[in-house]
Amino acid sequence: MPVPRHTRITGGALDVSGGIRTTIIGPARAELSGAVGRLVRALGGSGTSVAGPGAVLKISCPGLPGGSPALEDDESYQLEVDPALGIELTAQQPAGVVRGLSTAAQLMQPRPDGMKMLCARIEDRPRFAWRGLLIDSSRHFITLPVLLRNLDAMAAVKLNVLHWHLCDDQGFRMECQRYPRLHEVGGEDLYYTRQEVETVVQHAADRRIRVVPEFDLPGHASSWLAAYPHLGCRREGYALARGWGPHDACLDPTRDEVFEFLDGFFGEVLPLFPDEYVHIGGDEVTGTEWMADPQVVALMEREELDVAGVQTRFCRRLQGIVSKHGKRVVGWEEVAGLGEGATVQCWRGLGSVESAAGAGCQVIQSHGFYLDSLDRAGQFYRRDPVAGLGGEQTDRVLGGEACMWTEYADSTTIDSRIWPRAAAVAERLWSAGEVVDEPDMYRRLRLVSRRLEELGLTHAAELRTRVRRLVVSGSGESVLHLFAVLSPARLDRVRDRLAPLDSVVDALPPESGVAHRFAELVGEFLEDPGCGAGQILRGFLERWVEIHDRLLRDLEGTAALAELSPLSRSLAELGRVGLSAVQAIASPGDTLLPELGDDGVAPKHGDFDLQIVASVQQLVAAAQRR
Ligand code: ACM
Repeated sequence: MPVPRHTRITGGALDVSGGIRTTIIGPARAELSGAVGRLVRALGGSGTSVAGPGAVLKISCPGLPGGSPALEDDESYQLEVDPALGIELTAQQPAGVVRGLSTAAQLMQPRPDGMKMLCARIEDRPRFAWRGLLIDSSRHFITLPVLLRNLDAMAAVKLNVLHWHLCDDQGFRMECQRYPRLHEVGGEDLYYTRQEVETVVQHAADRRIRVVPEFDLPGHASSWLAAYPHLGCRREGYALARGWGPHDACLDPTRDEVFEFLDGFFGEVLPLFPDEYVHIGGDEVTGTEWMADPQVVALMEREELDVAGVQTRFCRRLQGIVSKHGKRVVGWEEVAGLGEGATVQCWRGLGSVESAAGAGCQVIQSHGFYLDSLDRAGQFYRRDPVAGLGGEQTDRVLGGEACMWTEYADSTTIDSRIWPRAAAVAERLWSAGEVVDEPDMYRRLRLVSRRLEELGLTHAAELRTRVRRLVVSGSGESVLHLFAVLSPARLDRVRDRLAPLDSVVDALPPESGVAHRFAELVGEFLEDPGCGAGQILRGFLERWVEIHDRLLRDLEGTAALAELSPLSRSLAELGRVGLSAVQAIASPGDTLLPELGDDGVAPKHGDFDLQIVASVQQLVAAAQRR
């Protein structure tokens, strides 16, 4: 995952249990040794050598050392795994080698007689060149190790742009030596040092991932203005926002000193980011402060501009500053008026892609890819970035980005919001447009999810930790089984950046993998009641009946009991009714028809959504129809 362009499984498996001996042919040897080392470590080995036993990995890459990763990188590669030849990986450029090694890692299969690699011949290249993940470090500060492991996960599924949202109304997160109040006051001292920024950029570059920083302007600017209030129309009285936005704080578009400040700022920070692009935000200007300011109103009258026009005017001037520093701008769709030469990130609707592309902008599609929503992997997967566009407009779409805003996520929970769902977006952006088999995507997503855990992602572990904290005695298995079929009913429980996200529900994935699997099995069973799915369904349902009593014991005397016991009682009820439905469908005639209570079982209980309700209802309805 993502599905390669052409795959031929040639049969058999290569034994790699004795390690891997690597030969790299081409000038980029030093640059590639880190990527090879990671593959070998994924095997459980500690290093790579050219001598000694083990399977042979031969990498041919005639391209020169790549410098920083870039939009133009050639990421195509060919990979062959053969019992006689070993592993052969060929790519024109280092980026292709790195992508090919991610594929090679997915061909590894631990078997009882040691680690094997599936034999296959693969030719692969991406559909879109820009395949990003936005991480918002402002609303909640995301620590360095969390960023680094998310880069590892991105590389595993071939995402290639970290869009790093470094400032917003709730915090300014990057050190600035020239204007230190930005990180001291605007960031309340929670910020990345210059050295930490370099670490992130280097970790990303080793995986051929670009880092595009975002400095959101002229709106979303409370943190800039808490630090340097003279940049705003009001010139005083600004504070960091505690609640979520949009807020009115906005830079003054009429004064030269504001742009001189920004010139000084970008002159200092941009050299830390080797990528050609910088994101200047440009979204969600409320206009309230501008409309209340006589200078801005005069500007609007003089130049016949509305608020959107002033916003574009501001961003055009900013575009001039960043291009002086050697960069190209990306902005949110509100600045599509910049036209040719600008890259616009669409987030509000499919129509905005059409108008931005029509205005001559290059486009990045993020509408429908917001990971901070409760949308399921399958919903992300169905959204094609170029759906409904004509040929010329399609050519303007560089790709897309999954966006992880952190109003409702912090460093401990962000993995569970991003993974594994972002892998579905990654596949949509890398694989051919015809790759749309959703059940197959989910099957592979489950495997990828486990692989990401091996890489150190905590999307599953954090939930287990929080569940265990609830339990006073026993292993907490019952509670884990309950949580495996739950998702959050809503995400906006807490609307203050200083309020802790310390509940179990904050670490609960927006989609229950078990519930999804159960729904698939119900579909298979109803199609053919004689198939093996019925037996697996019974296993699930029997467990759900059992856990209620165990949960009462495991949580005895805890505060969580009152909240969770109605849920486990409902789950047990669903288990009982589901079992009799399965029985009635498998052996019609000799069983009582199942019935849910008068009101059925509600899917929503407080903060939680019991994600199996619809599937059990489907079983009951099918039993009653027979
Ligand atoms: C956005 O979600 N305001 C880009």
